[in-house]
Amino acid sequence: MKNSTKYLQEAKKIIPALSQTFSKAPYSYVEGIYPAYLSHGKGSHVFDVDNNEYIDYVLGLGPITLGYNYSPVNKAVKKQLSKGISFSIPHSIEVEASKKISSIIPDAEMVRFAKTGSDAGTAAVRAARAITKRNNIAYWGGGGVWHDWFTVITSRNEGIPKSLGKMIKKFEYNNIESLKILFEKWKGEIAAVYMEPMITEFPKKNFLIDVKKITKKYGAILIFDEVITGFRFAKGGAQELLKINADISVFGKGIANGMPLAAITGKRKYMEKFNDIFYSTTYGGETLSLAASIAVIDEIKTKPVIKHCWELGKKLISEFNELSNQIGVKIKMEGIPVRSKIVCRDDDDNPSILIKSLFYQEMVKRGVLLGPGYVFISYSHSQKDIKKTLEAAEKSFKIVKKAVNTKTVKKSLKGKPMKSVMKF
Ligand SMILES: Cc1ncc(COP(=O)(O)O)c(C=O)c1O
Repeated sequence: MKNSTKYLQEAKKIIPALSQTFSKAPYSYVEGIYPAYLSHGKGSHVFDVDNNEYIDYVLGLGPITLGYNYSPVNKAVKKQLSKGISFSIPHSIEVEASKKISSIIPDAEMVRFAKTGSDAGTAAVRAARAITKRNNIAYWGGGGVWHDWFTVITSRNEGIPKSLGKMIKKFEYNNIESLKILFEKWKGEIAAVYMEPMITEFPKKNFLIDVKKITKKYGAILIFDEVITGFRFAKGGAQELLKINADISVFGKGIANGMPLAAITGKRKYMEKFNDIFYSTTYGGETLSLAASIAVIDEIKTKPVIKHCWELGKKLISEFNELSNQIGVKIKMEGIPVRSKIVCRDDDDNPSILIKSLFYQEMVKRGVLLGPGYVFISYSHSQKDIKKTLEAAEKSFKIVKKAVNTKTVKKSLKGKPMKSVMKF
C-alpha cells in the first residue's frame, strides 16, 4: 500500500473529507487495509495505485453496470470526443439520447438530463412543487438525494435551513396506512410522493397501485427514484419489473456506465413544467455522457445484460449464504440478486460493524473489494469471479469464526473499523 499511503498523506493536506464522495473515502472502508486510491479497471476488476488487483462488487457505488473500460462505451465516447464535448447551442445527440431513453423507460414521454441522481431528484421535486403549488413531500427510500430538500432530514444537515425539514413527511414501505395518514393530516399540502419503487423488499400485492391511487386522489405527483433500480432491475427499471408507472421518474448511476449523467423522465403533461421552472445548467447537454448512455442502452437492448446480473447475483447470494451456514458464522448476503447487502451479526444477533470490518479486511486481502453499501454485479462479472469470491469468503468466514469464538475480533482487525457517514 506504499503508493496509496503516499497519496493519502497528500490528500489529508489538500482534500477536506479526503474524497469527493463520503462512501468512497478511506473511513468508509477498513482504513489501513483497503487501498485508498485506485488506478484503473478492466471488466469486473480494478487495480489500485500499488497494482494490486481486486474483483469489484462496489462498481463505483452502482453505475458500472457493464464493466470498467467497456469497449462499446469507450468507442462511443471517443467518437463523440473527436467531435466536441460541450457546445454553445444544443448538439443533436441530446435528441438522439432522449429518444433512446424514451424507447426503453416506461412512460418516458419526455426527457431532461442532469449530471447526478441528486440533481435529477431535486429537479423532479421542484417540478412537482411548481405543478401542484404545494411544498410538502411524502418520502420513502434508502436516502441518496444529497440536496438540501432531502439532506435536511439526515444527521449531516448543517448549513441547511431547518425549516426545510418540516416539509418532508416520511411514510413506510408496504404500509399504505402510513401514507394515507400523511395525506389526511396534510390535506392539500403534499406536492409529491417521492420514493424508490423498491429497495430489496418486493411490494406487497397492491401496495404500489394503492400508492398511485392515493397520490392521484389527493392531487399530488408520484415520483419514482430509479437512480439505483434503473438500468439494473430490468431494461426499463423497477417500473418495468413491477409493472407500474410513476408520473415523473429520476435515473442516474447505471444510465451511462460511469459517465456523469442522470435523467428526469415522465409524462408530457408533467414534464412540460420544465418549460417554466428554472432547471438549467451549463453541462446539462454535455455530449460524452450522452454518447455513453446511447451505447449503454444499445448494449442492454441487444445483450443479456440484465439476465446475466440476476443469474450471477443469485448464484453468489445462495452459495455465499450456504457456505456461511456450513461454517457457522452469522454473515449473510441479504437482498435480491441485483442489489444485496452483507450483514454481519454478533452472538446476540445485532449487526456488528467490528465483525463486518474483520470480514471485509480478510476479503480485500484475498482480492475481493466489497463496499459500505450494496453488492452489485456487472455484465463483466464471470463465473470465475464468483468462484474466486466464494473461495475467499470460505477462508474469511473461518478466520472470523475463530476470532468470534476466541473473542479476538478487535485484536484481529489490523485496520480501523468502517464508519457510517451519517444517519437518516
Ligand atoms: C436511491 C438514490 N437516489 C439518488 C441518489 C443520488 O445520486 P448521486 O449520488 O448521483 O447524486 C443515490 C445515490 O446514492 C441513491 O442511492
